Amino acid sequence: MPDAADVGHGPTYENHTMPRYLAVGDIPKKRHTAHRVTPGYKNEGIYYEEVVSTHGFSRAYSIVYHVKPPTRVKKVEPAGAWPVERVEQSALRHHHLKTGTIPAKGDPVTGRVPMFTNADVILWRCRPSEPQAELFRNATADEIIFVHRGSGLLTTHFGVLPFRPFDYVVIPRCTTYRIDFANSPTPPDLLVIESPGLVGFPPRYVNADGQFRLGAPYCERDFHGPTEPLVIDEEQDTTVVIKDGDRLTRYTLASHPFDVVGWDGFVYPFTFNADDFEPITGTIHQPPPIHQTFDAPGFVVCTFAPRMLDTHPDAIKVPYAHSNVESDEVLYYVRGKFGSRRGVEESSFTLHPHGIPHGPHPGTIAASKEMTRTDELAVMVDTFRPLYLTKQAMTLDDANYPMSWLE
Ligand SMILES: [Fe+2]
Repeated sequence: MPDAADVGHGPTYENHTMPRYLAVGDIPKKRHTAHRVTPGYKNEGIYYEEVVSTHGFSRAYSIVYHVKPPTRVKKVEPAGAWPVERVEQSALRHHHLKTGTIPAKGDPVTGRVPMFTNADVILWRCRPSEPQAELFRNATADEIIFVHRGSGLLTTHFGVLPFRPFDYVVIPRCTTYRIDFANSPTPPDLLVIESPGLVGFPPRYVNADGQFRLGAPYCERDFHGPTEPLVIDEEQDTTVVIKDGDRLTRYTLASHPFDVVGWDGFVYPFTFNADDFEPITGTIHQPPPIHQTFDAPGFVVCTFAPRMLDTHPDAIKVPYAHSNVESDEVLYYVRGKFGSRRGVEESSFTLHPHGIPHGPHPGTIAASKEMTRTDELAVMVDTFRPLYLTKQAMTLDDANYPMSWLE
């Protein structure tokens, strides 16, 4: 059978890099051999291997070992559709949306509200008000869940992963999961980046040996995967809602899917905290790619982390005006005061689309002159194809924002 990469369709990942190898729990010495257990399901004497691969069988994969076969489905039923309604804009312009007060609703999955979309990415905001009702699995997209507020546990068939504020929680496609928040007076608040292409790391951060270079803004120690297996060996009907594109399907499994005694490989959920991003600074302004955190087909994710500002005596310490040629630039403002913008607040989005300039707001160049550092934290998503606002985003749009540079 040819590899998908050989047949000339789908995205290419020539330079894409994935997380490092991890091994968790109990795995046999050699892959695809009997992983023995007594008596085992139906006295067959083995754990059941499942290969979780990407890009067909061509790219990163993990091999997991279940107590029972992962294929024991009792019922399959449609569970509706989740269309993302994009709005055609009659004019090319900048946008500013304040999303900090969108109503809390639903659970960490059903409460997601789409904001921006194109063929390569969907950006969602989520302020859940209820515990996750059913297990969830995104069959066709990786998810990067940026935790603006809240801490808790991501439970998956790879094990349990704690998360905390300002974590990026990266969940590879086909990971069955639930998200539980710890009790807190601060309601949980999420930015969800859904990527039909594989999420990985910028290849320029990785040396020929597969290790993050010394000059990269993070290293292996900053990434956290599951450390122990999770074995729920229960013969009980368990529903999983599976999303592939807009379509939702409810599977009723005969046993709990979190019955994995061990796994190894390069595909697993992991966390990276934005405060572990090591900013790169200079005597003069450094360009946006130095903030890059993740790489995916059609877009990049960048972290604007607290950092020292430029030290040249004549340095202009806020970004120069720029026209984003072949790029639509979304900023999600997380924490602190954003030096180059006026009027934005925590949970604001700005979208500065392709082909028209944007830059520091009036007064911000002078205001930054004596500053030596910035405490801003923001997440940027730059797409290479135009983004569309959704119907929900348009209700939050400030139509006067394009004129906000006048005075
Ligand atoms: Fe910009």
